[in-house]
Amino acid sequence: RRAWRRQDSGVPELSAARPRLVGMEALATFAEQVSGCTRCRLSQGRTQVVFGVGNPHADLMFVGEAPGFHEDKQGVPFVGQAGKLLDKLLGGIGLERSEVYIANVLKCRPPGNRDPQPDEIESCEPHLFRQIELIQPRVVATLGNFATKLLSGKPSGITRVHGQEQEVTLGGNRVLLYPLYHPAAALYTPAMLNVLQEDFRRIPELMGREEIPELEPEPVLAAAEPAVQLGLF
Ligand code: URA
Repeated sequence: RRAWRRQDSGVPELSAARPRLVGMEALATFAEQVSGCTRCRLSQGRTQVVFGVGNPHADLMFVGEAPGFHEDKQGVPFVGQAGKLLDKLLGGIGLERSEVYIANVLKCRPPGNRDPQPDEIESCEPHLFRQIELIQPRVVATLGNFATKLLSGKPSGITRVHGQEQEVTLGGNRVLLYPLYHPAAALYTPAMLNVLQEDFRRIPELMGREEIPELEPEPVLAAAEPAVQLGLF
């Protein structure tokens, strides 16, 4: 197994809990700053900035494309149909949304859910890189083409690179980049959903966790056994 270690602050007087608190406050402060962002035209049509959600110290971070209708209204990423699928896929590997961090390439909804434009990505990317710098995840799973191309710095499409992890430096930290199909694309394409599920199964291993054990049959008899044995003596 690879040794993925968080960088130590190297300052002895800071207790283990202190840097976590500092990181949490820094992310909240940064979210507050970004909530007033006017770096691109999308600020004019948005209900609100959709900064990101989840554990500010997550080992696993997901990066999607951009907020849609529901995300723009609620201010939370992946709350629509694609989000429900993401929650299910997480559940399948024993994780909850609150344990990971979820963000998007763009923090504001493009009108009519059109594709992000290059200048919008360029304006918004410093926000994402700063998030990654503050959260320091071990694994960054990119959902779909936009996040994958931006964070890998390569033009290869998701169909070619999904499921292939690569080590990259993001926000000043070495992370494992793990490209995945976008759940919205998998929603209506069963073959893609299968591949996405397969790729998801490798996430615990990439995070340096134990593999999820195969489900064992329910031990229905186990509870009854002691009583039966008691009756024997
Ligand atoms: N699709 C995305 O890429 N991001 C969201 O937040 C919701 C849907």
